[in-house]
Amino acid sequence: MRQVIVAGNWKMNASKETVNTLIMGILSGMADVDSNVIVCAPSPYMSQVEALITHSQLHLGAQDLNENASGAFTGEVSADMIKDFGAQYVIVGHSERRSLYGETDEIVASKVQVALDNGLTPLFCIGETLEQREAGSMEAVVSRQIQAVIDRVGIGAFKNIIIAYEPVWAIGTGVTASPQQAQDAHAFIRSMLTQNDASVAQTTPILYGGSMNPGNAAELIGCEDIDGGLIGGASLKAEDFLQICKAG
Ligand code: 13P
Repeated sequence: MRQVIVAGNWKMNASKETVNTLIMGILSGMADVDSNVIVCAPSPYMSQVEALITHSQLHLGAQDLNENASGAFTGEVSADMIKDFGAQYVIVGHSERRSLYGETDEIVASKVQVALDNGLTPLFCIGETLEQREAGSMEAVVSRQIQAVIDRVGIGAFKNIIIAYEPVWAIGTGVTASPQQAQDAHAFIRSMLTQNDASVAQTTPILYGGSMNPGNAAELIGCEDIDGGLIGGASLKAEDFLQICKAG
């Protein structure tokens, strides 16, 4: 049985005040949450979140990492820095990183490797654009994205990887994939893992991301191959985020 995982990706949205309100709000409702809950904060707020979530069930993640250990990489954040603030998770290969910052499959694979080498669990994001879906190439796109990581770290490493399927056309648009569309994609992803290693495929969590909200979360997470959600907009409101956490 795979545990439900709900991760909030705050993206570039935070202030000291909103972080305080949001985390206190989430913590106040965690008593009846069974899911594994992660919040992925912008780097300047990781220390604040670390302090607020001590001795709670909440886990901390970062939104990206650099593939180098240290050095002259202005503006970048290393795996060691992320761990220094008690984070156990890091988002890697988000479509915004791929499309806005030119991250290739090879760069994403390097980042997954560095995260794993440092004991961080990557939330490895994949997904097709609207154009690619309409051209019928969803399966080809997600296969290519996953294969690049398998080639780099091996299928066995997926024991320590969380996959997030985030169709680009559903991110921040209010257009959610239907449960059937999402389940079909997740089943395809799991079948690809199965071809490589059946037991790893059974344990690897595959989260859905893209306009998940309190109104659609239960139906999506209820699908056989959907093991939770990676939440953007709805993770910024404690009440909405908690409702999604409880949907699992
Ligand atoms: P939204 O939930 O705002 O669509 O964002 C999804 C996402 O990109 C999470 O990483």
